[in-house]
Amino acid sequence: MTTLALSLSGRDVLRSADLAPAEAEAVLELAAELKLDRYGQRLPGRTLGLLFKKPSTRTRVSFAVAIAQLGGAAVLLQPDELQLSRGESLADTARVLSSYLDAIAIRTFEQAELEEWAEAASIPIVNALTDEEHPCQALADVLTIRERFGTTDRLRIAWLGDGTNVCNSLGVVAGALGMRMVAACPAGYEPRGVDVVRDPREAVAGAHVLVTDTWTSMGREADAAKRLRDLEPYRLGEQLVGLADPDAIVLHCLPAHAGEEIDASVLYGPRSAVWQEAENRLHVQKALLTLLLS
Ligand code: CP
Ligand code: NVA
Repeated sequence: MTTLALSLSGRDVLRSADLAPAEAEAVLELAAELKLDRYGQRLPGRTLGLLFKKPSTRTRVSFAVAIAQLGGAAVLLQPDELQLSRGESLADTARVLSSYLDAIAIRTFEQAELEEWAEAASIPIVNALTDEEHPCQALADVLTIRERFGTTDRLRIAWLGDGTNVCNSLGVVAGALGMRMVAACPAGYEPRGVDVVRDPREAVAGAHVLVTDTWTSMGREADAAKRLRDLEPYRLGEQLVGLADPDAIVLHCLPAHAGEEIDASVLYGPRSAVWQEAENRLHVQKALLTLLLS
């Protein structure tokens, strides 16, 4: 077992920007190491609470497996089984849970609610997706890019479609690691802090990484029909892939909707790195937990 390059002991990760560039680098380096040492128990006895107010396949399972492989245990905190559902305050809940658990990963709607948890808890709170950010996904994405290209330096990322929570988080991490990201999206669908163009061909021309996400994120179902109409010109199909760098890879956080934001031939085609990307959720979260709890 190597000595950790740095510690994030006791920190919250609510947004991608909560990690300085050197800290994001340290997560990636440790993730690469842990990927080769899947069962190395670096956090024996530690416990991670998982509080999810939206559905999840990858995030919930990869966090539960992450803490188990590190020698600890996950505790599922079903919102409707907590006294929170009967009116106990968030602050009281966070205070009590802080005396049992070592960290909590939370998936919810409002970023402000996550901040309330962080304020009230004395243990690290990790964003497992909010309406605004998905920092763990962004870390898995940049690990995948680094594995495929051997570097992140000066690579160009083209984001297509809705400027989602994943896009917001990836833009920050990509910038921190020396990449440039441009998002092609229609008016009203812009991400935060990322350069925007309207023409998808302009974004993908010569790009090394093409990324998209669902057109109807969790909680946005009410205007799904309008979203599908507005975002139609931004579907990631083979024609767009053909304009990118010949070695370009395609990323998607999943779940994907083949025929909507991405064509099946691209999702399952030779340029797709989405399954490697999904696996990398496990490795980056193990690294993050190790740095937060060591
Ligand atoms: N990519 C992602 O966060 O997937 P889940 O919604 O399945 O966790
Ligand atoms: N933008 C999507 C990501 C799902 C992992 C959502 O928020 O539903």
